[in-house]
Amino acid sequence: MHELIRILCKFAFQNKIFMIYISRNAHFSAAHKLNNPKWDQEKNEEMFGVCANENWHGHNFDLTVTVKGEPDPETGFVMNFTDLKQIVNREILDKVDHKNLNMDVDFLKGKMISCETLTIEFWKILDVEVRKATGDRVSLYRIKLYETPNNFAEYFGE
Ligand code: NI
Repeated sequence: MHELIRILCKFAFQNKIFMIYISRNAHFSAAHKLNNPKWDQEKNEEMFGVCANENWHGHNFDLTVTVKGEPDPETGFVMNFTDLKQIVNREILDKVDHKNLNMDVDFLKGKMISCETLTIEFWKILDVEVRKATGDRVSLYRIKLYETPNNFAEYFGE
C-alpha cells in the first residue's frame, strides 16, 4: 500500500502543471489631461483636480506586465524575456513615451486618459501580441501601472 502511494505521488508530480508568472518592468514619461467635454472647466477641475489643467501636465509612469504559462521543457522559459521586452517596447513604449497621451496616441484617441483606461488599452494590445508570439502557450495575467509612486491601477482582463 505504501509503495502504491509513492508511485501515485510520483505520477501526480510528473503530470503536474507548473504555472509560472513572469514580469517585465518598464518606465515611460508622458503628458495628459483629464477632461470630460460635457462639463465646463470648473467642473472638470472640481472632479479631476490638477489632472484637469488646461495646458497639460506630465507623469512618470511605471508599468509591470505579467504573463503566465508553463515553462517550455526545451528552454525552461515561460517565454523569452527578450521577446517580452521587445513586445512591450514596440507596442507600448515606442507609442507613449514622451508623448501627449490625449493627442499623439492612436489607440487612446477620444478616451478619458486615466490610469485605469491605460491599463485596459495596454491589455488589449499586449494580450494579442503575447499570444501571437508564443503560439497561444502564454497569455497576459496582469497589467500594473503606477501613475505616481502612491497611485496605481491593476487590470486582470475581467
Ligand atoms: Ni494627471
